[in-house]
Amino acid sequence: MNSTNQFIKPLTTKKNENGNIEIGGCDLVLLAEKFGTPLYVLDEYTIRSICKDYKKAFSAYDKVNMMYASKALCTMAVSKILDNEGFGFDVVSAGEIYTVYKAGINMAKVLFNGNNKSYDELALAIKLGVGRISVDNFFELSLLNEIAKSYDKTVDILLRITPGIECHTHEYIQTGHLDSKFGFDLTQIDEAVELILNNYSNLKLHGLHAHIGSQIFETKIYGDEIEILVREIKRLDDKFGLKLDEINIGGGLGVKYTEEDLPPSTYEIANIVIDSLNKCIKKYNIEPPALFIEPGRSIISTSGVTLYTLGSSKQVPKGRTYFAVDGGMADNPRPSMYQAKYYAEIANKPDCELSQEITVAGRFCESGDILIKDIQLPQVEEGDILCVYNTGAYNYSMASNYNRVQKPAMILVNNSQSDIIINRETLDDLVHHDVIPDRLSK
Ligand SMILES: Cc1ncc(COP(=O)(O)O)c(C=O)c1O
Repeated sequence: MNSTNQFIKPLTTKKNENGNIEIGGCDLVLLAEKFGTPLYVLDEYTIRSICKDYKKAFSAYDKVNMMYASKALCTMAVSKILDNEGFGFDVVSAGEIYTVYKAGINMAKVLFNGNNKSYDELALAIKLGVGRISVDNFFELSLLNEIAKSYDKTVDILLRITPGIECHTHEYIQTGHLDSKFGFDLTQIDEAVELILNNYSNLKLHGLHAHIGSQIFETKIYGDEIEILVREIKRLDDKFGLKLDEINIGGGLGVKYTEEDLPPSTYEIANIVIDSLNKCIKKYNIEPPALFIEPGRSIISTSGVTLYTLGSSKQVPKGRTYFAVDGGMADNPRPSMYQAKYYAEIANKPDCELSQEITVAGRFCESGDILIKDIQLPQVEEGDILCVYNTGAYNYSMASNYNRVQKPAMILVNNSQSDIIINRETLDDLVHHDVIPDRLSK
């Protein structure tokens, strides 16, 4: 069975009677006119559809908890939708904690991750009642215990471990140790557990947590990860008499940015995860643990598109044709950071013959600010609206104000309705935090 992460475009994308592309029943050209460009557009139906795929796919295991990795896209409206679909939240900063808190999320459903959480962030997590903290290293164990003690609280934790599996999207390697900034090496787990049991009386350990990579197309890797997590749980029980009953396998399922990408479905992933888990439960003779899974990209990426207006162009003699849009690396840093590839169409010319190969350049002052290299499009003119697909994840969340350009607005579309969920930044927003010291004004 297919799942939503296997599509390039939001599920409601179609050509409408105006001859334009519409998403969520909203004409993209009219959205661009009304809200301006660049514009992030999120399709609510597509978000809810992938949530349902995940829940259905994992329903064969009783104790499953779906968490959304907020780092992919963290806004209050998105948090509301995910909450409504029954998801908890994986957060990685005070900003993400505060966003879900302000959205009215039950903080017991929140897990706080990260390799260098600050004193203030940990204190905020404790004060707001975050459900689990995934402790990443020895320094944090000691710091968290100290803060918990000062609040006279016992904090529920997981240990983030590096299972010795490294994923390079299309292949992976297994090693005894992994050179990673995240988590405890397998050889450090016992020392961490001893410290928790003997020294850190304000920490209560519930389970183990790992995350093996992102934009993963490989299914077997999850089976190997589960084997390591369950093996460690059994080993800790044998050695310390410790009954851990939670495993968190992280996120990572890939999406289809272009035709070349062939991500597995949530159903394929769930089959291998549940099958491996059941086998390991038998093999190691443990009580079935609660399973946590925390996808980000695969939840939100396909639902999002970015609209741009095409502007200036340049024909390099005997070379490429460049067309520039009114956004680029500040609203979508992935092409310049990771050479990420995207697919796009002209929203006002969905049916025109693909007669031209162009390179879509951003408007920022970097030669590397190229959004899409060598894409086939219809004859392009200034003023056309370019729709870049699959921009829901790690676009707005990684956006910057480079060149002091305002971040775009984001709207949510559904059933022909369009609502702003992030206002476009204004010029005043850009200077809002600037301060001129008195001595410079004299
Ligand atoms: C610990 C952890 N969990 C979940 C995720 C989400 O990964 P993805 O967006 O690939 O599903 C990440 C991403 O970096 C992560 O570090």
